[in-house]
Amino acid sequence: MRLLVCGGAGFIGSTFARQRLREHGDEVTVLDKLTYAGREENFHDFAEDPRFRFVRGGIEDPAAVAEAIQAGSPEAIVNFAAETHVDRSIAEPDAFVTTHALGTYVLLEAAREHELRYLQVSTDEVYGSIEQGTFTEESPLCPSSPYSATKTGADLLVQSYFHTYGLPAVICRGSNNYGPYQYPEKLIPLMILNALHGDLLPVYGDGMQVRNWIHCSDFARAIGQVLESGAAGEVYNAGGPDEEANMTVVERIIELTGASESQIEYVKDRPGHDRRYSLSSEKVRALGWEPRVRFQEGLEETVAWYRENAWWWEPIRSGDYRAYYERQYGRALS
Ligand code: NAD
Ligand code: DAU
Repeated sequence: MRLLVCGGAGFIGSTFARQRLREHGDEVTVLDKLTYAGREENFHDFAEDPRFRFVRGGIEDPAAVAEAIQAGSPEAIVNFAAETHVDRSIAEPDAFVTTHALGTYVLLEAAREHELRYLQVSTDEVYGSIEQGTFTEESPLCPSSPYSATKTGADLLVQSYFHTYGLPAVICRGSNNYGPYQYPEKLIPLMILNALHGDLLPVYGDGMQVRNWIHCSDFARAIGQVLESGAAGEVYNAGGPDEEANMTVVERIIELTGASESQIEYVKDRPGHDRRYSLSSEKVRALGWEPRVRFQEGLEETVAWYRENAWWWEPIRSGDYRAYYERQYGRALS
């Protein structure tokens, strides 16, 4: 298949691009704005593949989208492009509205004009928090943060293009991803790098919030499965095999890195913090997908990857991220 992968220079988008090039023989054109989270380093190992192209630009820019479509003549658009950090959405929601609302609209119009299949990558956060039980695709949408509210708006717009124009669009909603190439503002890579550097491990609130962890390679395969065999107009949840409280994750990272318990610091809670996410994945399992990586082994491999790939994270930790960290946590990195 010829694919236009928007946001393919980010964590999950680059995992998906790598998987489709290596395991499916697809042609991949990436369109990415290269925000702070998008990095060409994320495709260092396939940048020279003749079936791969990169166009720099924003999905909200119709000229950039037209250029990428011209370059790759795709059969489908897979949209990962997003602002993805909840804390940043609380501090500065602006870019979240532009990328999720306007950006998704521009891509949908392009898909309509060129008669392309369209897959929107979405999140379990659109359902809000659940104390007990698990969300299905029928659960009401109840987002809590500017991040999840704008992602929800994008999902609704995608569904309206199916209902109104018959656009063959599908949505795949994932739970919390982890794995290589994840920007260290997110819980797992932040804790790994801080643990390795002897920095503090900032736990929000009581640390008993629960997340449903999925390895990025499993989420990327779920997206591929939905792209290939999902029914137009449908939503598919893809949740990971394990749920863990944040404190359990931090404790495990301390064990794996040889850090000290004394590095843990309870800090001010995130405003509007969702307590628990949990997704039922029965519908995507019925298409033939299942997760392959259990959390214990995936976390161990992830810690090993960050240990061995300082070339990837050193420029981040010594760059703009330092200032972000200081603003967010009120303390400096070592
Ligand atoms: P990421 O922050 O690592 O990457 C986002 C990418 O989008 C970056 O390369 C960035 O440069 C690009 N981008 C941002 N705004 C853009 C714009 N206007 N135009 C073009 N490119 C733009 O994010 P990620 O964790 O890889 O998430 C990818 C997608 O998966 C997002 O849609 C996110 O909502 C969804 N998702 C993420 C998770 C998770 O746990 N990380 C879970 C479920 C769903
Ligand atoms: O559930 C899917 C979502 O998972 C994605 O849609 C988002 O793009 C992605 O960022 C992620 O959102 P979370 O808010 O769950 O992830 P984050 O890594 O920011 O936080 C995970 C949990 O850890 C959450 O309960 C907040 C907590 N946390 C986070 C950070 C960064 C801390 O306790 N300390 C921290 O320093």
